Amino acid sequence: MAILELERLSRHFEVRPGFVDRVVRRKPSSYIKAVEALNLTVGHNEILGIAGESGCGKSTTCTMVAGLLAPTGGDIRYKGDSVLDLKGAGLMEYRRRVQMIFQDPYESLNPRFRISEIVAEGPTALSLWDGDEIDERVNAMLNAVGLPHHKYADRYPHELSGGERQRVGIASALVMEPEMVIADEPLSMLDVSIRAGILDLFKDMQSQRHFSAIYVSHDLSILGNVADRLMVMYLGQAMEIGPALEVIRNPKHPYTRALIGAVPVPDPRTRRAIPNIRGDISKPIDPPPGCRFAPRCPHADASCGERFMELDTADPHLHQAACHKLDVINDG
Ligand SMILES: Nc1ncnc2c1ncn2[C@@H]1O[C@H](COP(=O)(O)OP(=O)(O)OP(=O)(O)O)[C@@H](O)[C@H]1O
Ligand SMILES: [Mg+2]
Repeated sequence: MAILELERLSRHFEVRPGFVDRVVRRKPSSYIKAVEALNLTVGHNEILGIAGESGCGKSTTCTMVAGLLAPTGGDIRYKGDSVLDLKGAGLMEYRRRVQMIFQDPYESLNPRFRISEIVAEGPTALSLWDGDEIDERVNAMLNAVGLPHHKYADRYPHELSGGERQRVGIASALVMEPEMVIADEPLSMLDVSIRAGILDLFKDMQSQRHFSAIYVSHDLSILGNVADRLMVMYLGQAMEIGPALEVIRNPKHPYTRALIGAVPVPDPRTRRAIPNIRGDISKPIDPPPGCRFAPRCPHADASCGERFMELDTADPHLHQAACHKLDVINDG
C-alpha cells in the first residue's frame, strides 16, 4: 500500500471583490483554483518530485499534505486513513511522522533560539523522550547533518551560513523520525556553490533512514538527480507523471516538452524540438473546465478547453500524460 494518497485534492482561494463592487454591483467572488482534482500516490521509501513553474500549486499541495492548510475538496490518506478528520493522538502522530523542510532557511529558524533549542523544539513540544534523551538525540542529529554539536549547539542562527541553516532545518525535521518528508524547494535560496552538498545530505539521509519524500523544485536537473518519480504541474493541474528520468528524457505532454526544452542543454550538438508556446503563465482565476495549458498549447483544439484528463497515479511504473491528443502529437 502507498504511504500517501491524494485523491482529487483541491484548494480554491476566494477573491472577494471590493466593497462597492460587492454591495452595489453585486459582483460575485472569484476563485483562484490553486490546486484542482490532484491524484497522487507516494510509495514507501519513494522520492516523488514535483516540477512546474511559479504559481502552479506546488507549495499549496505541500502545505495541505503537511496539515498546515485545509483542502477545499478531495482527500488526503496516510497509510490508508483520511487525515482530514484526525484529532488528538492521531493528529499528533501525523504531525510527528510527516515533516516539512522549508524553502527559506533564514525565515524558518527562530533567531532567539540556540541551534540545539531549535532542533529540540519538536521533540519537546510532543514530549517524545525525556530531557536527557532529547539532548542526546539532538546532538547526534547535528553531527549527522554535518554540524558537530560541540561547535554548533550553542550558536544562534545569525552565526550560521545559509547552507548551515538549511542543515539545521533538515536536522529539525529528521530528529522527529519522520516517515514522510516534504521538501519545498530546499535549495532555491542557497548559493549555487553549496547546493550539491545539501542535496547529497538529503539523499544520504533518505537512503539511511528510508523515509518517503515529496521533493519540490523548479530545477529539472535536480529532480532528475534526486527523484524516483516525477509529477509535472501546470496552473494547479497534474500534466504528466512517471519515472523521473523517463519523464525528463522522453516527455509526452506538450507542456513538459516545453519545460524541458527551456532547460539549457550542456551539449550543443543535442537538439531538442522546442514547441511554439504562446503567451505567459497566468493565475488560475475562475479557469474554464478543460486543460489549463490549452490556451498556450500549439496542439490544442476546442475539445481541450472542455475536458481535462485526470491521471491515475496508483501504478508507480506508469508514465502518463493528461492530454487527449497524444496520438496526434506523436504522429506529427
Ligand atoms: N493564501 C492565498 N491566497 C490567495 N491565493 C493564494 C494563496 N496561496 C497561494 N495562492 C495562489 O495559488 C497559486 C499557487 O501558489 P503556490 O504558492 O502553491 O505556487 P508554487 O507552485 O509553490 O509557486 P513558486 O514556485 O513561486 O513557489 C498562485 O496563483 C498563488 O498566487
Ligand atoms: Mg512554492
